[in-house]
Amino acid sequence: MNIYSVAIDGPAGSGKSTVARLLAKELNITYIDTGAMYRTVALYCINNGVDTKNRKDVVKALNSVQMDIKQENGGQKIFLSGVDVTNEIRSQRAGAGASDVAVIKEVREKLVDMQRKMAQGMSVVMDGRDIGTNVLLNAPVKIFLSASAEERAKRRCGELDKLGLKYDFESVKKQIEQRDFNDMNREFNPLKKADDAVEIDTTFLSIEQVKNKIIDIIKQKTGMK
Ligand code: DC
Repeated sequence: MNIYSVAIDGPAGSGKSTVARLLAKELNITYIDTGAMYRTVALYCINNGVDTKNRKDVVKALNSVQMDIKQENGGQKIFLSGVDVTNEIRSQRAGAGASDVAVIKEVREKLVDMQRKMAQGMSVVMDGRDIGTNVLLNAPVKIFLSASAEERAKRRCGELDKLGLKYDFESVKKQIEQRDFNDMNREFNPLKKADDAVEIDTTFLSIEQVKNKIIDIIKQKTGMK
């Protein structure tokens, strides 16, 4: 199989993006972080005084969101109106806003369309919430990552530490639980394991172990040596 897609879904902090980035590097294929796209729409709203919970206003703002995604040094950089916002979208505020705008049908349609176009004609590892159930329905490899909320909150705090952003552990954990609820209970393309996805609980696994398990699954499903 020359061209193939690897769809990775799971809740916030399950290790999706770290493992997807490592996989893309090892397999020499493109990594697409779809959560970053929802975060960028949220950041646009925050910067322009648009309430991320107000469907009508977000839909109106959507036409003005000028988002560009570039692959640089094997990683994804995301630009909003020409400005690199790759780090800025990692804030808790942008994360919560992303979960709000992600319930809106028009937002999802626009971003899913972009995601499908990006995956055309090349091999990708794409991570998100609805990749296996909606965006890349025919992906030969579908993975669903899970982990306990406590462990996921610890990981998120580690990321915020690295970015030098301030946080409070309990509020990070609460936000993760709130986000799980939003993501799993929304009307359009909720977070859900695809029937043909392989679930991996990452709570007690290192990133390396998760990556190796997925490589084995990719080999099995694609016949790759
Ligand atoms: O993976 P993340 O934390 O960067 O995602 C931010 C939010 O975006 C998350 O709460 C749900 C939403 N999202 C989504 O609805 N669908 C995707 N494919 C990716 C993210």
